[in-house]
Amino acid sequence: MATDATHDAASARSSGAAGQIAAPAAPAAPAGAREGAAVSLRSLSRSFGQVRALDGMSLDIAPGELVALLGPSGCGKTTALRIVAGFESADAGQVLISGKDVSGIPAARRDMGMVFQSYSLFPNMSALDNVAFGLRMRKIAGARRKQRAAELLDMVGLAAQARQHPHQLSGGQQQRVALARALAIEPRVLLLDEPLSALDAQVRVQLREQIRALQRRLGTTTLFVTHDQEEALSISDRVGVMRSGRLEQVAEPPVLYSRPATAFVAEFVGTMNRVPGELTAGGAQVTALGTTVPAHDGHNAADGPVDVLVRPEGLAVTAAGDGNGIVTARTFRGAVTRVSVLISGETEVRIDVPTADTAAMTPGAAVQVTLPPAPALVAPRRTAGDAPVLAD
Ligand SMILES: Nc1ncnc2c1ncn2[C@@H]1O[C@H](COP(=O)(O)OP(=O)(O)OP(=O)(O)O)[C@@H](O)[C@H]1O
Ligand SMILES: [Mg+2]
Repeated sequence: MATDATHDAASARSSGAAGQIAAPAAPAAPAGAREGAAVSLRSLSRSFGQVRALDGMSLDIAPGELVALLGPSGCGKTTALRIVAGFESADAGQVLISGKDVSGIPAARRDMGMVFQSYSLFPNMSALDNVAFGLRMRKIAGARRKQRAAELLDMVGLAAQARQHPHQLSGGQQQRVALARALAIEPRVLLLDEPLSALDAQVRVQLREQIRALQRRLGTTTLFVTHDQEEALSISDRVGVMRSGRLEQVAEPPVLYSRPATAFVAEFVGTMNRVPGELTAGGAQVTALGTTVPAHDGHNAADGPVDVLVRPEGLAVTAAGDGNGIVTARTFRGAVTRVSVLISGETEVRIDVPTADTAAMTPGAAVQVTLPPAPALVAPRRTAGDAPVLAD
């Protein structure tokens, strides 16, 4: 495995305070790193008693691609990963690696690296021995094994911690050992199950950037499970949003954000407002906040009451003494301020406004909220008692 000067410099930087990690661009690829494999999940179903954990899930991942699986707790993310890894079997459907069905191949022979939701290091082994473990299983000789493990630890910025045991490492360091252990076998497929969930916000962002840089450098096909939408959108080539054992939409992050296929995706990814509206013209138009705009295609709804789904940056607000809303709160976010407005005494919306324009928008101030003349996404009208909006 090759190292280079940038890599060494990064390791030197990372050996300082606990929690500091190498710069994302630093990791060097091992010599002879293999091309990632194509991974296909074909109509996977799996039930546990009455619980249908997977319900016909299909997904094609290209070689070297990073796909994030995003979805609420219990929607089947871990089950999908465990079936791909071979730790769990499907009731129906197949997993294809480079086009070949791997159903009959045990986990240990699937050539995959996995970082589990709880990172499960061996407590009685040093960081180095943890990383070397998979190589030992693959019968790689002692000296070579130690050397490879040391290189991997160096790559994740932990050269100085090689002799420490898990209880002597911070959560972030343990995550990086788990990652190095998964990468040590140079897998053609990397499966990461919430690998960053135990970490504080800053380390989490640094480590996800490092994972992405490594993954790109090594060309490893990666399935990355998270329930953090910001994480999913920021590191993936594509994001799959799961709900109740199925994928609702798989798309590149900007498409998922701006062209959500369903109301569930729209509200799970990013913040979304619901404004009561009225569908007209055979479902082609929607009127809300006194404006009539084209209704987003593909919803085939009949004329009548609906909710218009609109992002915080998709509404306009101006100070107006006789306006339709009252400011209830404001949150400073740097260049923009998120202003909460109660419209017509019943609908609360959040609107992102350039901070410079918000001087008059203090709680209690009267404002006019308008819908810009762009096509709007509509969803069935939500009544009291329906599930609350999940996003912030
Ligand atoms: N071994 C099992 N035995 C019984 N039920 C299970 C088992 N594994 C998973 N389940 C159930 O299957 C469903 C999906 O579980 P899974 O662990 O795949 O969800 P998840 O999307 O990973 O959730 P989380 O975000 O909380 O980790 C859940 O209802 C869970 O309780
Ligand atoms: Mg899980």
